[in-house]
Amino acid sequence: MASIAKHIASILVVDDDRAFRVATTAVLNDEGYNVHTVASANEAIEKLGKHTYDIVLSDLVMAGMDGLQLLNHIHTNYSDTLTIMITGYGSIESAVEAMKSGAFDYLTKPCNNDELRIKVRRALEYKQNRQALSSLREEVHKLYTFHNIKSRNKKMREIFELVKKVSETDVTVLIRGETGTGKELIAKAIHFNSSRRDKAFVTVNCSAIPDQLFESELFGHVKGAFTGADKNRIGRAEEADGGTLFLDEIAYIPPSAQTKLLRFLQDKSFDRVGGSETITSDVRIIAATNQPLEDMISEGTFREDVFYRLNIFPITLPPLRERLEDIPLLAEHFIEKYGATLGRNVKTISPSSISSMMNYSWKGNIRELENIIKRAIIKTEGDCITDIDIPKNDVYDTSMPSSDLTTTVENNIPFKDYMKSIAADAEMKYLITALKAHNGNINQVARMMQVDRKTIYRKIAEYDIDVGQFRR
Ligand SMILES: Nc1ncnc2c1ncn2[C@@H]1O[C@H](COP(=O)(O)OP(=O)(O)OP(=O)(O)O)[C@@H](O)[C@H]1O
Ligand SMILES: [Mg+2]
Repeated sequence: MASIAKHIASILVVDDDRAFRVATTAVLNDEGYNVHTVASANEAIEKLGKHTYDIVLSDLVMAGMDGLQLLNHIHTNYSDTLTIMITGYGSIESAVEAMKSGAFDYLTKPCNNDELRIKVRRALEYKQNRQALSSLREEVHKLYTFHNIKSRNKKMREIFELVKKVSETDVTVLIRGETGTGKELIAKAIHFNSSRRDKAFVTVNCSAIPDQLFESELFGHVKGAFTGADKNRIGRAEEADGGTLFLDEIAYIPPSAQTKLLRFLQDKSFDRVGGSETITSDVRIIAATNQPLEDMISEGTFREDVFYRLNIFPITLPPLRERLEDIPLLAEHFIEKYGATLGRNVKTISPSSISSMMNYSWKGNIRELENIIKRAIIKTEGDCITDIDIPKNDVYDTSMPSSDLTTTVENNIPFKDYMKSIAADAEMKYLITALKAHNGNINQVARMMQVDRKTIYRKIAEYDIDVGQFRR
């Protein structure tokens, strides 16, 4: 931004009226701009070939080539240059025509100096914002280029090749893999390497939306469709028009929404909740899951036809324990990423730390590794991580609490609070045992415990349980 702000704007004034050129130049020079003037469109074209202008301020009616022709020339050859057209007083039609042909703005003659200053300033601001936006876009693109997805593993390298190829198409992709294996990262890489990169990447986390609101979240609703629907609202599917819709944790899509999703997957059309108009949205769909969808189909909790519509181009990311060669690479990558930003000067990691990382099970995969490195960076005083905290034992102890009653009584803990803590402890241990028995399958645990899966998610978060470790 700073470099844009320091840049002195260049303006070309084109008018066959000398008095107008002189007056305008005086005003714009006072504003600190660099101003050139010419008396005809032909001279303007010559100037444009030699010099870069931020703005061309041109009269519409001139002898020889007129302002509109000049505008077209600028539009085709210098898309970064904005044009402000000067039209005769009262000729609103020509102003409209100039705007239609791509002028940024217009001024009517005789010009009011304040209006001239304001319109030029506004055009320059617009240009700065446009530039800032496009450099931000580039930053985002860079974040999701394949350079930032690290792997030496042969299977992963093959996956990268597939991902590059599929990015160029509009095919639906289903990304599978354990928690923390990089499913979202791959989904974004597909979007940002596709022709849709400048349009939206919209994520719907299917496990985080309450069942009753799911359809409205995805497809929108019309005013009055249900209690609380006090205005029309567009859904995520419409928001993603032209871009990519990422259906994350697709296994948790409520059964009631699957029929509508099927239609959407088939022809990208839907209607808003309570609406009758059919809406079509041009979206590319990417879905992700860490759940065994095939088992869910056999159990009857996931529709087979939905699965086939999603499983067009499946990508399965291997867990970290099957690509141990990536551990040193990823450790270095995260040290580089966080080493300085966390206020530390960490640059490297000791061989013994790497070797203890090589012997760990990594059930939380790359996310777990990322967090462990972040923690180690914060703890490290020098520039090398030597002390890395690898959990010794990744299975929770589920024995019942050996509550120390004497301490409780001595600390005057009321009986009801004591009972509450025992109940919470028991609840957590019950949940962990159930998760273990069902290999971390939330749907099965919810059914077994006879509560809905949102409650299970809430409890998991409350007790900070890492479900990944129970998944097989
Ligand atoms: N190959 C990789 N190179 C660098 N960073 C990675 C790689 N894979 C994953 N990560 C990082 O690990 C973290 C977890 O990745 P991501 O969120 O994509 O996983 P996920 O499979 O979607 O997990 P979950 O199933 O829990 O949602 C992110 O911070 C991501 O940037
Ligand atoms: Mg994810």
